[in-house]
Amino acid sequence: MSDWLYSDTVKDHFMHPRNVLEEDEASWPSDGRGIVGNIKCGDQMLILLRIKDGIITDTRWKTYGCASAIASTSILSEAIKGMSLEDAYVLKPEDIVAKLGGLPSNKIHCSVLGDKALRAAIDDYLEKNDLPSLKGKENVEVICNCLNVTDRDIEDAYKAGDRTWEDLQARTKIGTACGGCKERTLELLHQLEHLYGE
Ligand code: FES
Repeated sequence: MSDWLYSDTVKDHFMHPRNVLEEDEASWPSDGRGIVGNIKCGDQMLILLRIKDGIITDTRWKTYGCASAIASTSILSEAIKGMSLEDAYVLKPEDIVAKLGGLPSNKIHCSVLGDKALRAAIDDYLEKNDLPSLKGKENVEVICNCLNVTDRDIEDAYKAGDRTWEDLQARTKIGTACGGCKERTLELLHQLEHLYGE
């Protein structure tokens, strides 16, 4: 697949997205609601969940994102029906990208909105129902093996105001040994800007 082409699965889900919220939100009562993204980048994702006995029974979603965000959330919405909250909470963007038959490399960041909104909706449900939180149970990716810095550490640093490689190094010491983690870190910063940037 060339870097610029979408797989047939992506095209199918983009042309015929499943479980889209067609009605207004109030007419689809949900048990959990998650919204993430940065409307100024044109990407925002809302996910609604219906949950019974710890299992996701139905879902609706809406996004202003691009084709990749639409296709990846469509496939995510099919995958999570019938899934336990614990299993859904640890879904990774890579799992969704794999189901899509891959995405152009410059589009992978679009698929992270879906799983973040999904976790936000699960958090919302657990909080509203006074149930134990799953926060911290999501899979983390070790980005810097030398200094053991994970994607969650970088996300926390971003939320605390870090925007550049130098900011991150000052806070976490990332990349100060072999330096092999710089490219992946910059990619992640780009994703975070998309998710949280002003
Ligand atoms: S992997 Fe980050 S410094 Fe070596």
